Amino acid sequence: MSTTTDLIEVSERRSAHNYHPLPVVIHEAHGAWVTDVEGKRYLDCLAGYSSLNFGHGNPKIIEAAQEQLKNLTLTSRAFYHDQFATFCAGLGDLTGKDMILPMNTGAEAVETAIKVARKWGYEVKGVQPEQANIIVMEDNFHGRTTTIVSFSTDPDAREGFGPYTPGFRIVKYGSVEAIREAVDANTVAVLFEPIQGEAGVLVPPDGYLTQVRELCTAEGILMIADEIQSGLGRTGKTFACDHEGVVPDMYVLGKALGGGVVPVSAIAANEDVLGVIKPGQHGSTFGGNPLACAVGNAVIEILNTGEYQSRAAELGEVLHARLRELIGHGVITVRGRGLWAGVDIDPSLATGREVSKGLMARGVLAKDTHGSTIRLAPPIVISEEDLLWAVDQLADTIASFR
Ligand SMILES: Cc1ncc(COP(=O)(O)O)c(C=O)c1O
Repeated sequence: MSTTTDLIEVSERRSAHNYHPLPVVIHEAHGAWVTDVEGKRYLDCLAGYSSLNFGHGNPKIIEAAQEQLKNLTLTSRAFYHDQFATFCAGLGDLTGKDMILPMNTGAEAVETAIKVARKWGYEVKGVQPEQANIIVMEDNFHGRTTTIVSFSTDPDAREGFGPYTPGFRIVKYGSVEAIREAVDANTVAVLFEPIQGEAGVLVPPDGYLTQVRELCTAEGILMIADEIQSGLGRTGKTFACDHEGVVPDMYVLGKALGGGVVPVSAIAANEDVLGVIKPGQHGSTFGGNPLACAVGNAVIEILNTGEYQSRAAELGEVLHARLRELIGHGVITVRGRGLWAGVDIDPSLATGREVSKGLMARGVLAKDTHGSTIRLAPPIVISEEDLLWAVDQLADTIASFR
């Protein structure tokens, strides 16, 4: 059982159909390129939804993981271990926050943020028990837990999974007025993505982040930025909030924090917020484990150089300039920031899935989202030549449908 056909047949028969993968079976990967079981190479333009910002098999990250594997992999948080302090101090310095609470997946970090915001609301803000509400955005994507899908506006993500967790108010993304109207005395937080990734790389209007910051400060509400997909270099800055010089009260991080090796997530906040959590009130057996922290430490060291942020900014200019040339040639709009783009293809030509398959046939792996939108988010290690080649393949694919 080693051919693409056999492996897909068994995967489909023996696994739940909660994904609809492209028909490629990847065997190995280096940098921005992956190789399938038949030896065909593809340029990875999805990068594990930004988990592989630093490239497949990044030598520094792999070395850190290998070293750690030899020494210590798990203690549980019942004991301290020697990678933990460096990780929390390093991530605290990177975010400019006092404290870190590490978890594993992105959804767990979002759940952590929700719990901390509620507890802060009751203990610090003085909201009456059980009354806290959190303002969230239309078309958000924060993960798949029952609480998180309770405030999703995507029917596929939400329907059939009730009863839903109460305490969320959904407002239009990009409108500070909509937030202002939804705020009341029981509002404890605004939870948002500085760029909505799954929704199609939607960038809010200029000034939005600044206005949300001002509103949250004025109303005594926590500003919680879910930077799980937008953070850690992807947009050309360490955090997407940096584009407006805005500092949220809480960062929610994941994906690239694990270097594409292990799931590592965390929230970062100051002591007046994160200090509300006491022993026994939250945690995870694997959260902050030695392997995760060692990998996270390598990621933090990489980010501290600023090299990947600059590279994403420079290559992002190249990518967006080239993509804009396709507007009017089968492309309707292009959005994004840094090395991250949402490309709306004319829906009368092809679905996003058809375009993704066309790209795959030409050696480029990308993913569609909602209708005819294609997301491009290659590992930041990609060469300029490969990046331009990928856009050429997109142009060819679209031309083939015209
Ligand atoms: C902004 C955002 N938040 C949360 C998540 C959930 O992360 P995970 O899949 O690791 O639970 C994602 C995943 O795509 C995301 O993009």
